[in-house]
Amino acid sequence: MKDFKDKIAVVTGAGSGIGRAASLKFAENGMDIAIADVDIEGGEETARGVRDLGRKAIVVRTDVSDRTSVEALADAVVRDLGIPSLIFNNAGVATFKNIVDMTSDDWSWVMGVNLDGVINGVSVFLPLMVKAEAGGHIVNTASLAGLFGVPNLASYCASKTAVVGLSEHLRGDLKELNIGVSVLCPGAVATNIVDAGRNRPVQFGGPEGLNNDAEQTAEGIAQGLSPDIVAEMIFEGIRDDDPYIMTHADLRIPVGARLEALRSAYEVNA
Ligand SMILES: NC(=O)c1ccc[n+]([C@@H]2O[C@H](COP(=O)([O-])OP(=O)(O)OC[C@H]3O[C@@H](n4cnc5c(N)ncnc54)[C@H](O)[C@@H]3O)[C@@H](O)[C@H]2O)c1
Repeated sequence: MKDFKDKIAVVTGAGSGIGRAASLKFAENGMDIAIADVDIEGGEETARGVRDLGRKAIVVRTDVSDRTSVEALADAVVRDLGIPSLIFNNAGVATFKNIVDMTSDDWSWVMGVNLDGVINGVSVFLPLMVKAEAGGHIVNTASLAGLFGVPNLASYCASKTAVVGLSEHLRGDLKELNIGVSVLCPGAVATNIVDAGRNRPVQFGGPEGLNNDAEQTAEGIAQGLSPDIVAEMIFEGIRDDDPYIMTHADLRIPVGARLEALRSAYEVNA
């Protein structure tokens, strides 16, 4: 996607962190933004930033894990802005726990937002984009935790690994339709992700504070990359149609170690 001016972007999880920074970056480049989040106050703050840049913004309370909610989002986007060219499936949550302690609710909540959220975003918006025959781009937020295992993040790693696989698959399927697909795989970014439990729905146990494992991760996340830098990388990744948007060059070592382990596994049966 090379032309951003006067095009429409849908950004999920746009009420905070990476989603907010990306919304502002897209607006800076001439796009109108549909801000989708369960956090309406956060969404409104992002919208003010977008409007200050002279672009239109709508805020739609959306639970990405719920297909009906994403369908209502699409109705609002088409009605108030038009057919989107860019879908940024970014909303995500995490629980920091050893797998032994993980409950069924922990699994359902994290997989619902991180994986079903991306599936819903793709399934609901793609038919509109295909029908419009105008091409476009989809970015799905995974994580480095989608490329190698990270302790105390079992459901998060499982969901993000699936998002990497889904995105790789989509890229092949959509090539002929002139719809690019990138998967974003960040390391630590200074956002509110460690406190994701603030938005945990009642049906999965309700809001929760930081446990010991989360406390330990919090410091690393606070010292992570600025979301604004990541937003610039996302923008360039879309413009250049990069399959992978990799943000932390220093973390190429564990990714390489995984690839090396896979290569050596072949030697066993060579
Ligand atoms: N911050 C990091 O270090 C890091 C690293 C790798 C990947 N990521 C991923 O980046 C993405 C953005 O997270 P962030 O770091 O900006 O965190 P954040 O907590 O600052 O922002 C996440 C946003 O998602 C929203 N959200 C939560 N549940 C939702 C739901 N069901 N429907 C719609 N919106 C919902 C939250 O309200 C919040 O506004 C996530 O997918 C996360 O997994 C973050």
